[in-house]
Amino acid sequence: MTSLPEVRIGIVGYGTMGRAHSYGYHAAPVVASLPFRPVLKFISGRDPIAVTAAAARYGIEAWTTDWRELIERADVDVVDICTPPGTHAEIAMAAARAGKAVLCEKPLAVSYAQACAVVDVARQAGVRNAIGFNYRRLPAVALMQRMIADGKIGEVRLFRATWLSDEFTDPATPFDWRFERSMGGTTIADLGSHLLDMALWMVGPIAEVSGQSETFIRERPTSDGGTRPVEIDDASSALLRFENGARGTMEMARMAVRRPCDFTVEVDGTRGTLFFDYARLNELLYGDAGDDPGLYGLRRIRAEHPTHPYALNGWPIGQGVGYGASFVNQAAELMTAWSSGTWCPSFADGAAVQAVCDAIERSASEKRWVAVSEITDDPPPRP
Ligand SMILES: NC(=O)c1ccc[n+]([C@@H]2O[C@H](COP(=O)([O-])OP(=O)(O)OC[C@H]3O[C@@H](n4cnc5c(N)ncnc54)[C@H](O)[C@@H]3O)[C@@H](O)[C@H]2O)c1
Repeated sequence: MTSLPEVRIGIVGYGTMGRAHSYGYHAAPVVASLPFRPVLKFISGRDPIAVTAAAARYGIEAWTTDWRELIERADVDVVDICTPPGTHAEIAMAAARAGKAVLCEKPLAVSYAQACAVVDVARQAGVRNAIGFNYRRLPAVALMQRMIADGKIGEVRLFRATWLSDEFTDPATPFDWRFERSMGGTTIADLGSHLLDMALWMVGPIAEVSGQSETFIRERPTSDGGTRPVEIDDASSALLRFENGARGTMEMARMAVRRPCDFTVEVDGTRGTLFFDYARLNELLYGDAGDDPGLYGLRRIRAEHPTHPYALNGWPIGQGVGYGASFVNQAAELMTAWSSGTWCPSFADGAAVQAVCDAIERSASEKRWVAVSEITDDPPPRP
């Protein structure tokens, strides 16, 4: 038996995403036929006890408390960044300068200027780079994009998306990095970056936005018994005008009681409608104007047919997949594209999303429509 050549992975951060990415690398060669085998070599995290436990649990050979050590190691080919957004730019740039391929969790950075700096460094270093827009890797979401690209709904007219969670509804939830602007970014970027990636991928570039934001709980308790002011939005929404004339709406909120982290995306075209609801993630609803009028309504497609995206990485038809499949498919795609030297979606895609996030934030703050070109043509000085 010949063994596959290895691509050696170092993961920065052992939290939720460190776990999800580890799972993806372990499972990818089991479910997909890959040209390279990802091997989990190294993990870094600041707390020695927690990182030791994570290395053992995630099946990772070695650990360090210093991400710089991970980046410098000769036996790490890919630096996979799973830390808070405010750390992404520094780690990604250092990894690219060290000649490593980089996968970075979303959002790429906490500002468009920072995101551009990361794109520049990765481009100069000539390293493979990817952003963790894992929802593209769900079979039904990938099928939705493919059907739009294939003209199944005609010309796109409307985009509509929501991302609702109850993460911030309890005033007793303590202050952590998610409430800090320079570390967590915004709710617009945290939840909205996934929706905007789908908008740009399925519909095309966004020309201008009109946003609104609110912070309902303005202070959060701290571990020393005090409080800290919240620096980001609890909930935001935006109107979108796409360059191709389509119109859109989106809402992202961590203030929706009893809503788990859930999203919906709908795209309406001149001859059809597509609707995805994450709570039913193996399904896609589709209405075609050419259907028999007696069958009025949306039909339910099971995105599991062998002709559908990623179906061959899943179980037999009818068994379905879950959240974890998005990370497995992501890892499989990175290994499949390893030889090409180009990954997708790339840091440039992450920066394009960040530009729209910044435009929505500016619009909400200045209470006016903001062209995305205001952000991209005149970014503030790069850090
Ligand atoms: N793609 C997705 O579905 C998805 C889901 C959740 C989070 N995310 C993104 O993944 C990233 C990490 O989120 P998470 O939920 O795993 O967070 P988490 O809080 O569970 O884990 C964060 C990790 O980063 C470390 N860390 C915290 N502050 C740090 C700092 N200042 N410097 C270095 N390391 C630090 C923590 O010790 C921990 O290991 C964020 O960018 C988040 O937006 C993506």
